[in-house]
Amino acid sequence: MNELKSLISQAWQARSDLQAQWQEEQTDCFRIFHGTNEGLAGTTLDRYGPLLILQTFHQGLTDEELAQVRSFGEDEFPDLHLVYNDRSKNNSRIQNAEEETDALDNTPMEGSELGIKYCVQGRHQGQDPWLFLDLRAGRRYVKANSEGKTVLNLFSYTCGIGIAAGVGGAKRVVNVDFAESSLAVGMENARLNNLKQVEFIQSDVFPAIKQFANMPISARRGKKLPKYPKHGPEQFDLVFLDPPRWAKSAFGNVDLIRDYQSLFKPSLLATKEGGQLICCNNVAQVDRDEWLESLKRCAIKAGRPLKSIEILLPDTDFPSPDGNPPLKIAICQL
Ligand SMILES: C[S@@+](CC[C@H](N)C(=O)[O-])C[C@H]1O[C@@H](n2cnc3c(N)ncnc32)[C@H](O)[C@@H]1O
Repeated sequence: MNELKSLISQAWQARSDLQAQWQEEQTDCFRIFHGTNEGLAGTTLDRYGPLLILQTFHQGLTDEELAQVRSFGEDEFPDLHLVYNDRSKNNSRIQNAEEETDALDNTPMEGSELGIKYCVQGRHQGQDPWLFLDLRAGRRYVKANSEGKTVLNLFSYTCGIGIAAGVGGAKRVVNVDFAESSLAVGMENARLNNLKQVEFIQSDVFPAIKQFANMPISARRGKKLPKYPKHGPEQFDLVFLDPPRWAKSAFGNVDLIRDYQSLFKPSLLATKEGGQLICCNNVAQVDRDEWLESLKRCAIKAGRPLKSIEILLPDTDFPSPDGNPPLKIAICQL
């Protein structure tokens, strides 16, 4: 009867070590239930500060299942507000937004991760929550390794990585994304943490990274070169590259399966000798070792061979029984 509630309760109990760590690290944004590997594929339950965000991607929940999730929330997190976003149809878009809106669903709130403040909101004009929780290990690494550095954050979204760099003492942080609404959340995140050294470039990443790398800029085949913000060449101490799986742009396509190189090479050239390029690939079907080999080969071809390359695993609130989580975070030492 209470099958979903008991799956979620089990998942929560399995996180008892993590719960202690989160308390220590001042983290109240985490995954409570990762359905794919915990019993109900396509269903996730996350805490974002004062919110519980339940999402379904394959199939919507029945009223009975939803009541079970509510009951779990009331038992374990009685003070939090639960928002249910059903994204199981319509290209991952939230489809129950109008029917069931509570004023709290759309109210800006604040969460904390690693002692860093982030804006959170149950529903907003975009589809994804404003912080991707599986990238916490990346933010932890960046926070711990940014002191006194210049940092470039590509495909920054709401600038979680850039904010972690700023809190970690980076002397300059540049975030690049073409979405104005995501950068606006990033600016609010910078304000929440009193950061003054964080900059925002609203631009397609291709022309931005090629200018930093001092490479020529081209449009997609047969297309006129669109306008883009201009800046000079520059190399950074730390470059973070976290593109989406696939995206079409006027300057080229982002394609993490067939063409990581067209982003990796300019990112490499925009990283200082002795610096670090951290790159991500969240496509499950891309094999980790093959991907790492392709990065090494590309670096040699670009004349910037890597001194080392190391994988950072997501925290275990994203359990991965086969040891191959979809999100691969590679730290490349130049
Ligand atoms: C997967 S999110 C990146 C997540 C982010 N790294 C983080 O830490 O949360 C992808 C982002 O890429 C942006 N994007 C996609 N194609 C782009 C392009 N060609 N130029 C600039 N931004 C792009 C989207 O607007 C979105 O914010």
